[in-house]
Amino acid sequence: MSNQMFARKPLEMLLEELKGENRLRRILGPWQLTSLGVGAIIGTGIFVLTGIAAHDKTGPALMLSFVVAGIACVFAALCYAEFASMVPVAGSAYTYAYATLGELFAWIIGWDLVLEYAVGSATVAHGWSKYFQALLDYFGIYLPKAISNAPFDYDPTTGHLMGTGSILDLPALFITAVVTTILVKGIQESTTFNNAMVLLKVAVVFFVIIVGAYYVDTSNWTSAGFAPYGYTGISFFGNTIAGMKDGAGAPVGMIAGAATIFFAYIGFDSISTHSEEAKNPQRDVPIGIIVSLVLCTILYIAVAAVLTGMVRYDRINIDAPVSDAFKQVGLGWAQLMISVAAIAGITSVLLVMMLSQPRVLLAMARDGLVPKSFFGAIHEKFRTPWKSTILTGIFVGIMASFLPLRILAELVNIGTLFAFVVVCAAVLIMRRTHPNAERPFRVPLVPLVPILGILICLLLMFSLPVENWYRLFIWLGIGFVIYFLYGRHHSVMKYSLAHELAAHGASPAGQAVADPDAPPNSPAGRVDPKL
Ligand code: ALA
Repeated sequence: MSNQMFARKPLEMLLEELKGENRLRRILGPWQLTSLGVGAIIGTGIFVLTGIAAHDKTGPALMLSFVVAGIACVFAALCYAEFASMVPVAGSAYTYAYATLGELFAWIIGWDLVLEYAVGSATVAHGWSKYFQALLDYFGIYLPKAISNAPFDYDPTTGHLMGTGSILDLPALFITAVVTTILVKGIQESTTFNNAMVLLKVAVVFFVIIVGAYYVDTSNWTSAGFAPYGYTGISFFGNTIAGMKDGAGAPVGMIAGAATIFFAYIGFDSISTHSEEAKNPQRDVPIGIIVSLVLCTILYIAVAAVLTGMVRYDRINIDAPVSDAFKQVGLGWAQLMISVAAIAGITSVLLVMMLSQPRVLLAMARDGLVPKSFFGAIHEKFRTPWKSTILTGIFVGIMASFLPLRILAELVNIGTLFAFVVVCAAVLIMRRTHPNAERPFRVPLVPLVPILGILICLLLMFSLPVENWYRLFIWLGIGFVIYFLYGRHHSVMKYSLAHELAAHGASPAGQAVADPDAPPNSPAGRVDPKL
């Protein structure tokens, strides 16, 4: 069994699978992939979390936080790009881990990606709700408190959970249902919708930077010091290594802020989950990943500079900071426009993230780690993984309705950083195990770039409040249980290994039974003729 847990999926098998039936349609070019990337990146992070980070953790040093988080992402992005060009299938980091670190690790990463995509979607839906309510407020409409927020939230000054007086976040649930419906219908419709949203939000981000720049008061950058919380903020399981703590004992400072706004960058990696739908994945997926990330990094640093220059950091609104900054300088009309664009932009993030989750599950289903009859089902007419899209929608809707934004965002960050660490490590391993494999895109300066990627991502993981580590461990623990109860028994790799053994005259008892969930072209899908 341990052989199976550490069995790697051969690169040749991955490439062979690409030629099989039941694949997704190849319709995405470089612009569409870049647009999907930008669509997935600019959203709740820049429009909402910048407020929390600047106000509670960084002050004007938020600009540097964006630089640090951006550097971590560029290193990880280069590693994603190398893999995406080598193995352009739907599973992203999950598939890369299967090829390099073996089945158990692949499962852990696949399970971890649920944190990134599904829990990430719930976080984003919350951000949508905040701007939607800001828009309603503008017109003097107020939702009843009972349906305006998650029922509890985390209080950073005491470190305790507190009731909000609400029952559920109905707008977050609503937008999740709308996006799920669009996604079940199909990616062609989704990308058209996405392109329009992306154009709108990029235009408004430029507006914020250019118009906002006229309202920058440079004394806001310096009056309380550029980094009122310091330049660090690192702790090791509750013990501060560098920097200060807030009232709840969580690290604060420029690096701690980077760990929070890291969320703003999440999304570029989801391009790699669309490799299977790319017309020319070897060339276009790396282009999409790198162009979208670099563009967003530049925009983010500029937005952070403008925002902290327009409003003193301790007066930045933590719910809808960007639109509120324009209100504070007397541009009410801009507040309206930004809210509308934020809503549209955040919708496109939700669209891409909820598109990515079922595709990772699809890759796992093909390997037998989750039930193929459900997660591998492709709709006959729409050609979408419709059953798992609906299940993802239900999961996201429940999380978004009842859990608070802050807790969700930090959980997503630690999970995604963990995935990045694994992808960087996987590049190093793959270079050793398959030195001559075709790599249409190569990470420069190996091993330096992947090693720096691993170190910076770990640094950011240790800059998050310690509870996130415990939540990550619990999440991964649940994943282990599922793997040992289901995945290892149904894994296609298990049957391949059994057949190899059988070919050498050592067939283990009880393994020659056809698995209804296994693909018909795999050994597991056929009844052994010897029986
Ligand atoms: N980067 C995405 C956002 O900020 C997840 O909404």
